[in-house]
Amino acid sequence: MIKLPPALEFVLRDDSRALLRWVREGDIPRFRAGFEQLSDTARFSRFFDHLNRLSEAQLRYFTQIDYVNHMAWGALDLDRPSVPGLGVARYVRLPKQQRVADLAVTITDSAQGSGLGTALMACLHLSAAEAGFEAFSCDVLETNTGFAERLQRLGAEVAGHNDGIISLRWAVCAGADAVAGDSNSAKVFREVLERLAEAKLFRGAHPVE
Ligand SMILES: CC(C)(COP(=O)(O)OP(=O)(O)OC[C@H]1O[C@@H](n2cnc3c(N)ncnc32)[C@H](O)[C@@H]1OP(=O)(O)O)[C@@H](O)C(=O)NCCC(=O)NCCS
Repeated sequence: MIKLPPALEFVLRDDSRALLRWVREGDIPRFRAGFEQLSDTARFSRFFDHLNRLSEAQLRYFTQIDYVNHMAWGALDLDRPSVPGLGVARYVRLPKQQRVADLAVTITDSAQGSGLGTALMACLHLSAAEAGFEAFSCDVLETNTGFAERLQRLGAEVAGHNDGIISLRWAVCAGADAVAGDSNSAKVFREVLERLAEAKLFRGAHPVE
């Protein structure tokens, strides 16, 4: 069983360094500022709504994590401490299916394509495996074909379509060996899981902490 440290350094495709760590209650200002930086397309893809801001209740919900039923990994820029945050991925246990959790991920537009979404989702898999989850469910807008297709290349299956939303079910991967398929996406995902399995606790006293 791979046990991830709660904070680790991860080098991205462009060789920049991200700190991946559990979200904390003190992260509310990061969420507020990070949301400001999201395009309307990204907001709509994540929340299925044209939100102008996150409400106080949403900010509390997104940052008050119990790490048992609700897990959230965030990414910070170690090379640019003034950037509030690069992205976040979370799962929340489904009340009626105790070994299934709803998954969602958001990367700020300027940080997309650098491997962060992949890395944060891989962190979610390892955390979920350690916590005994079997699968993720993920609702994706039918218009967000890129993400829905990517999840399917990583082994997710379509569980249903309803009102413009595709529901996917994705078996939790406890490690690289559990990733099915020979697509490039699957290969990258396996490599990321292998790198994470070697990750050490980040101990740097850095301004982004
Ligand atoms: C969808 C989203 C989370 C993707 O995150 P991202 O950080 O841009 O994605 P990544 O950079 O990790 O992956 C992009 C591609 O790069 C590839 N990649 C990642 N790391 C790589 C690496 N080290 N080497 C080579 N390729 C790599 C991935 O495999 C992926 O390829 P694919 O599309 O062919 O599968 C992001 O675009 C986003 O937040 N969108 C708005 C909100 C949203 O749609 N959320 C989903 C619904 S909850």
